[in-house]
Amino acid sequence: MFEQFFENNKKWVADKLDIDPDYFENLSKGQHPEYLYIGCSDSRVTAEDLMGVGPGEVFIHRNIANLVVSTDNNLNAVVQYAVEHLKVKHIIVCGHYECGGVKAALNPTDMGQLNSWLQTLRDVYRFHQAELDAITDQQKRFDRLVELNVREQCINIIKIDHVQRSWYRTGYPKVWGWVFNVRTGGINDLGLVAEEEFASIRKIYDLKPLG
Ligand code: CO
Repeated sequence: MFEQFFENNKKWVADKLDIDPDYFENLSKGQHPEYLYIGCSDSRVTAEDLMGVGPGEVFIHRNIANLVVSTDNNLNAVVQYAVEHLKVKHIIVCGHYECGGVKAALNPTDMGQLNSWLQTLRDVYRFHQAELDAITDQQKRFDRLVELNVREQCINIIKIDHVQRSWYRTGYPKVWGWVFNVRTGGINDLGLVAEEEFASIRKIYDLKPLG
């Protein structure tokens, strides 16, 4: 059933070894990625491909609609490990246009198990309801919610104690918000200048003095 995948794998191994015979030996020695990427699980948004990076370069967490939920053990473990142990310098939250999770949040329907997950997205809609409801073009409103969701999830990152502890000690990690345009293949940097943009937010969520 998966013959093609195993064939692809063999070819991939051969290609890598062709360029560098020690490729996998070096890879096995450890990882020192400078980036943590938090993106959507969507099969069209393959983190490494869109950034043109390979194994060892980016620590990755993906979930539906790239959410940063404070009670999510999985997310918290990833962020803590990335910040405290890998000492990543940058955390990138990358959303994408045509995100099914974001679309579902714009259309109130009973999604079963997904309801509580999507609630976070509906909260983003509520925070920005005036702006979003003023956009009459449905596509533009959808796109804007994708962007606002990325911004809110960046804010959720700077609320995390491990992130704050590291940031106050070292000035890292820095937080970046991107949107992958699935219609063109391009990545847009939303230009969230974390230090300025988030200063007033830090005033509320600051956990100083941190241990
Ligand atoms: Co998505």
